[in-house]
Amino acid sequence: MVKICCIGAGYVGGPTMAVIALNCPSIEVVVVDISVTRISAWNSDQLPIYEPGLNEVVKQCKGRNLFFSTDIEKHVSEADIIFVSVNTPTKTRGLGAGKAADLTYWESAARMIADVSKSNKIVVEKSTVPVKTAEAIERILTHNSKGIKYQILSNPEFLAEGTAIQDLFKPDRVLIGGRETPDGLKAIQALKDVYAHWVPEDRIITTNLWSAELSKLAANAFLAQRISSVNAMSALCEATGADVSQVSHAVGKDSRIGPKFLNASVGFGGSCFQKDILNLVYICECNGLAEVANYWKQVIKVNDYQKNRFVNRVVSSMFNTVAGKKIGIMGFAFKKDTGDTRETPAIDVCKGLLGDKARLSIYDPQVTADQIQRDLTMNKFGWDHPIHRQPMSPTGVKQVSIAWDAYEASKDAHALCILTEWDEFKTLDYRRIFDNMQKPAFVFDGRNVVNVEMLRDIGFIVYSIGKPLDPWLKNMPAVA
Ligand SMILES: NC(=O)c1ccc[n+]([C@@H]2O[C@H](COP(=O)([O-])OP(=O)(O)OC[C@H]3O[C@@H](n4cnc5c(N)ncnc54)[C@H](O)[C@@H]3O)[C@@H](O)[C@H]2O)c1
Repeated sequence: MVKICCIGAGYVGGPTMAVIALNCPSIEVVVVDISVTRISAWNSDQLPIYEPGLNEVVKQCKGRNLFFSTDIEKHVSEADIIFVSVNTPTKTRGLGAGKAADLTYWESAARMIADVSKSNKIVVEKSTVPVKTAEAIERILTHNSKGIKYQILSNPEFLAEGTAIQDLFKPDRVLIGGRETPDGLKAIQALKDVYAHWVPEDRIITTNLWSAELSKLAANAFLAQRISSVNAMSALCEATGADVSQVSHAVGKDSRIGPKFLNASVGFGGSCFQKDILNLVYICECNGLAEVANYWKQVIKVNDYQKNRFVNRVVSSMFNTVAGKKIGIMGFAFKKDTGDTRETPAIDVCKGLLGDKARLSIYDPQVTADQIQRDLTMNKFGWDHPIHRQPMSPTGVKQVSIAWDAYEASKDAHALCILTEWDEFKTLDYRRIFDNMQKPAFVFDGRNVVNVEMLRDIGFIVYSIGKPLDPWLKNMPAVA
């Protein structure tokens, strides 16, 4: 029986391995992690991450050929194929601080593999890593090899949170990079055989190691660039009276461009886009490609601009001050159908409003109160470290309260800010909400989910990103 061990039981390691186990009953899959709480959660009925369909997949194979364990060394030593899916945060200190990937967790995983292995291994990079990481890993492994042979493969993960299970069952492509040597090609084939249990062969792409590593960074950079492009347009739409949804629709009809990923919003978030672009920028700079680095930097600058612009719009519309005013925050996760808050634009928007002394009542159907308080007090990039390396129970931010539902969050509020596109925000009883708010009552829709006309008819002053401005707002321009 082929044995797979995955180091890192997070958003990538957990769902990916569950789908492999379900589709490959003949393979034993063990997911290991240094975090005892994470592993206990995977072994309970309350999984550590929320992802539609995940529960059902895990239920079918947990205890059959899918296991979660903290006995890392045992399972690594027994495995034929080892996936490494640990954190790769942005460095906060030293060389490359603020841009380069911190490979501390990767390196310690590689050293541990070298320490405990007694048989040949295929080591698969599942984490997103800088180009040429495989070379560094290869050096660590071979310099400590005790005669054991290692083949390193790059198999970046393209799943999107919120649709992870669907993406894993029907991936657009599976990418496997490896050495173009006989042993390298054999390793590629072994991993291909795993995916071939359910992925059609023409969707499994094989490349050299560096192309695979770079393709992941490039794909995220392109995706984020699309969002920043449409967000940049949204600012121009507001200035000219164009409607960004109409512009996106017209632009997306061009088959060379396509309709996906063209929704204007308060900004992109998630654990990957910013981190991977910063990483790309750093690699460009290290290779003397300043113009290329500057080009990609703009994608992040526009994203920051969009979040600032939103905060300024809120404050300027409300007579240039939100001090002491209650603002209902609808949604905190970085997108719908996930409880993940890593780099969510809600953090910057909330911090911006708190900076202007607002009182916030935050509601999100999937994010815990503790997580929200943690996010609002954590240092930049602090979130991307294993849980036990993060600050313990944070002291809550005084001006922030957490609400059980949207109605509680909006009661007596002067304004609502919609920051996540949860479906339930489309169908709230906005009449009831309006009746319970201070007047004038504002809605700032950072995800374009509400029916603007209907809300204006009720009496709200509505701002919706990139849409023609409410007459109220026209007279109160927001400077970003
Ligand atoms: N989240 C996504 O949507 C996504 C998509 C594609 C790629 N990625 C990449 O995959 C990697 C993992 O991301 P994630 O979202 O799963 O992160 P995560 O923080 O959810 O999970 C990482 C896990 O690794 C564990 N870990 C760290 N060092 C370890 C060690 N030495 N031994 C054992 N366990 C260790 C941590 O405790 C943590 O549970 C990152 O490089 C990320 O950029 C993420």
